[in-house]
Amino acid sequence: MQRKYYLLAPGPVPVPPKVLAAMSEPIIHHRAPAFVKVLEEVRGGLKFLFQTKNEVLVLASSGTGAMEGAVTNTLCKGDTSLVVRAGKFGERWAEICEAYGVKPICIDVPWGHAVDPKLIAQELEKNPSIRAVFIQASETSTGVMHPIREVAEIVKKYENTLLVVDAISGIGVFDLPVDKWGLDVVVSGSQKAFMLPPGLAFVTLSDKAMSFVEKSDIPKYYFNYKKEIKKLVKDNETNFTPAVSLIMGLRESLNMIKEDGLEKVFKRHTRLADATRAAAKALGLELYAPDSPSNAVTAIKAPAGIDGQKIVKILRDKHNITIAGGQSEAKGKIFRIAHMGYLDAYDIIMVVSALEMTLKELGVSVEMGQGVKAAAEILEKEM
Ligand SMILES: Cc1ncc(COP(=O)(O)O)c(C=O)c1O
Repeated sequence: MQRKYYLLAPGPVPVPPKVLAAMSEPIIHHRAPAFVKVLEEVRGGLKFLFQTKNEVLVLASSGTGAMEGAVTNTLCKGDTSLVVRAGKFGERWAEICEAYGVKPICIDVPWGHAVDPKLIAQELEKNPSIRAVFIQASETSTGVMHPIREVAEIVKKYENTLLVVDAISGIGVFDLPVDKWGLDVVVSGSQKAFMLPPGLAFVTLSDKAMSFVEKSDIPKYYFNYKKEIKKLVKDNETNFTPAVSLIMGLRESLNMIKEDGLEKVFKRHTRLADATRAAAKALGLELYAPDSPSNAVTAIKAPAGIDGQKIVKILRDKHNITIAGGQSEAKGKIFRIAHMGYLDAYDIIMVVSALEMTLKELGVSVEMGQGVKAAAEILEKEM
């Protein structure tokens, strides 16, 4: 019999049957009235999810495409940026800036920690030429949530500086009210809390960001945000052929999120994250990001003398469960269990139970059931 597969990686995530069914519908031509109607609904749903009055673009690319576009559409060659480099994805902001002739000043935060907003305030005061601050809402590689609200309060004071947030593992996981907090550019991706396969990127821009777009001189063609917004507003269409099937699925997943309401969706993520952290602690494991953990993914330190990759491998090969290991400097040191999107209490119970078996197999002294008990005690409260 085909073995059941469990996906608890920090992207891609499982896709609900309703969304899979929507994506299997016959292809509609992207200029046909039926698809124009789909895109109109999706526009509304995305504004709801991003909590913005502005347009949210839907691009056929992975999340990094929208990150790249955030740089190329708002900045000029030779500009200076400030990058919070607290993990793999912070590094990516700096790399994209460099690729386009933007000079990044980096705040290097030790992995597993959130940035201290005071450091951003200091850098902005020292360097009035900084045109944009780049940060992650949730640094997926370390399981850290950065204090976006506080950072936004600081950046807001600088008329000539934008706040650009990679919320690829933040939107739909925890509260990020884009307009209320004054976030200028916010990027996300389909394979996370959107409960979709990989392949779509999202981006929204504030009025302040649009004034930067007017002056930006970095060459761009496919990711031309101004042209895309214009086309969307005028015709409810995209400039190029959109990922029709993914967008059909997006309409469904946005409906599911709307049905629940944002508060309930955020609460579910909080509860699953709390249960995962409690389970890890009950098993005598240490959290990699104890001070500011993200509700998207829990990063757990591998027990002393155990290679974290081995835990990932046993879960994969023996239990048919996909979680993630550490990246770059965290490779071998941590493993990451995601609780993002279409996952529920029993997914957490299942992965914790399999983790207990895995640790036992690796010779770690664990009391079987301790992790499951700790998780269940949290999860049972809101069944
Ligand atoms: C925070 C964050 N930023 C950027 C990315 C890159 O997105 P993609 O792989 O879709 O290009 C990811 C993907 O894991 C992410 O979690």
